[in-house]
Amino acid sequence: MDSAHVEQDLVNVLFTEKQIQDRIGELARDIEADYVGKDLLMVGILRGAVMVMADMARSFSRHVEMDWMAVSSYGSGTKSSGVVRILKDLDTDISGRHVVIVDEIIDTGLTLSWLTSNLGSRSPASVEICTLLRKPEALQMPVEVKYVGWDIPNEFVVGYGLDYREKYRNLRDIGTLAPHVYT
Ligand code: PRP
Repeated sequence: MDSAHVEQDLVNVLFTEKQIQDRIGELARDIEADYVGKDLLMVGILRGAVMVMADMARSFSRHVEMDWMAVSSYGSGTKSSGVVRILKDLDTDISGRHVVIVDEIIDTGLTLSWLTSNLGSRSPASVEICTLLRKPEALQMPVEVKYVGWDIPNEFVVGYGLDYREKYRNLRDIGTLAPHVYT
């Protein structure tokens, strides 16, 4: 789906398909350079990270393993509780492995902060984070992120894996959702 197909739902297009592909290629080059001679396991966080993972993995000129986790916040019922429940755990034993967590956005930082510490407790050789987008103004928990595509304003963005009520994930571009869609 192109942004033209949902033009009336978007305030603007933040990043085009081409810009996204170029930036993912750059991130892949950075990661490749940092992991020369090391095995690499990319852990994608379902569901939003599917697009980033698929394009990034294919950007590499080297072998890379992929695994997936699905998580959900619970407790008080809001994300801000900071409590995360594992819905689908890794199939891979990451002990001694070099892990890069792949996500499409860091908002409050709660999910990735919890995940980094959870994976860190499984004796990996290293754990780093790669996210396509980050919202510095929304951060509630400091998260050390080694690979960031772009920092963006604290606005409701959709596309390229990012959803609003499970829609727009298959939009090729990333755009700001118009308030009339969610109010
Ligand atoms: C998104 C994103 C991160 C998380 C970031 O997932 O993929 O995992 O939110 O938010 P945080 O920094 O505030 O914790 P979401 O819960 O929307 O699930 P989805 O990937 O299935 O859309």
